[in-house]
Amino acid sequence: MALISPSLLSADFGQLDRDVEMLNASEAAMLHLDVMDGVFVPNISFGFPVLKSVAKKAEKPLDVHLMIVDPGRYVNQVRDCGAAIMNVHYEACTHLHRVVQQIKQAGMQAAVTLNPSTPVSMLEDIVDDVDMVLLMSVNPGFAAQSFIPGTLKKVAQLRNMIEEHGAKATIEVDGGINLDTGARVMEAGADILVAGNFVFASPDPIDTIHRLSQL
Ligand code: DX5
Ligand code: ZN
Repeated sequence: MALISPSLLSADFGQLDRDVEMLNASEAAMLHLDVMDGVFVPNISFGFPVLKSVAKKAEKPLDVHLMIVDPGRYVNQVRDCGAAIMNVHYEACTHLHRVVQQIKQAGMQAAVTLNPSTPVSMLEDIVDDVDMVLLMSVNPGFAAQSFIPGTLKKVAQLRNMIEEHGAKATIEVDGGINLDTGARVMEAGADILVAGNFVFASPDPIDTIHRLSQL
């Protein structure tokens, strides 16, 4: 059974309350929020005011994915916006160990995210410290891109690493997830699926989330 983290990047921002209420009524385990700065990724999405608005309505944990440079500067602000999980990119943190400790000290779960071109082996010295690893299955910055098949091998490698270490980290996969790619990712050893376009562009998002959660 997959835990589903629908990405609000594909929601209707003019009717955000309605979409958050829909997710409250669904089997989504958490809500995925994609913050982009136009520097780390070639796109800009939304920031703290939107996170706060979502937090007011959301009845599920907020899974905040920061696609920004030097995310360690914003740990307390992200916490104050109501985040339960703070995802920072490996590629964006010079002192990743310090940032992970700061996130945990702030009372959030710490997650480290890898771009498609970053090998899982880079996590060897941090995997014991994190609550979750987010593997990008597209290059971050945009919704509705195609799943990169090489992610499947990375999920299996990460599952092995977590088992060898006796670590507690869960594995989340983000980008191009649908019923087909989601099934393959779960078979490879993932725990949590992020899905944006596949959920929000579907005629019945609640049923789509239900079907993804059955994987
Ligand atoms: C991409 C974001 C994703 C995105 C996923 O940079 O990190 O969370 O919203 O969207 P889909 O599921 O449409 O690929
Ligand atoms: Zn994301």
